[in-house]
Amino acid sequence: MPHREAGDNEPMEKTWSIRQVHPSDAERIGVHGQFREAPGSERQILCANWLRPRIESGRYVGWFAMDGDCVIGGAGAILLDWGPTRANPGGVMARINNVFTEHAWRRRGVARALLLAVFAQCEAMGIREFNLGATPEARSLYGTLGFESYPAEMRRRVTAD
Ligand SMILES: CC(C)(COP(=O)(O)OP(=O)(O)OC[C@H]1O[C@@H](n2cnc3c(N)ncnc32)[C@H](O)[C@@H]1OP(=O)(O)O)[C@@H](O)C(=O)NCCC(=O)NCCS
Repeated sequence: MPHREAGDNEPMEKTWSIRQVHPSDAERIGVHGQFREAPGSERQILCANWLRPRIESGRYVGWFAMDGDCVIGGAGAILLDWGPTRANPGGVMARINNVFTEHAWRRRGVARALLLAVFAQCEAMGIREFNLGATPEARSLYGTLGFESYPAEMRRRVTAD
């Protein structure tokens, strides 16, 4: 799916494209998901190892944006066996994660295009509900894509002693 961008003065052909991720992309997705961590951190490796079999089995749906051979962004969703609800009778919920765009490529519609691809793929599987935890800088992006705050949610975390 090529995208055209206009330059300041005249239309300039600058193209990037999106593609589905493969199990061999797990490491890079781990970096996107843990973008605040130092490269090669334990958590990035943990995530990559967790993702690989889930990409293989189809439980993780992911897309990369590519400029030639270079990955410039990514987005995905882990498919959760959540149980049927009125809004989502199929019972599978998509938890959006690993959304990241390289700095030089931000505000050009990369994350939006990736998320729309994730939505389309999930919706084709009958998934009607998507949720996520947003970073402050991503809240407005998600707002433009129809996400709303859901104040009823609570969570309990068990801390190590
Ligand atoms: C958040 C992030 C993924 C956005 O990626 P992006 O490719 O720049 O996003 P897009 O260009 O597709 O943005 C689409 C729209 O979202 C909104 N948006 C995106 N980034 C925004 C920002 N920093 N501030 C305000 N609005 C923003 C705008 O409405 C934008 O449209 P516009 O540029 O026409 O105004 C990117 O800033 C990033 O990688 N941040 C670090 C990782 C992160 O926070 N990920 C989210 C995890 S939940």
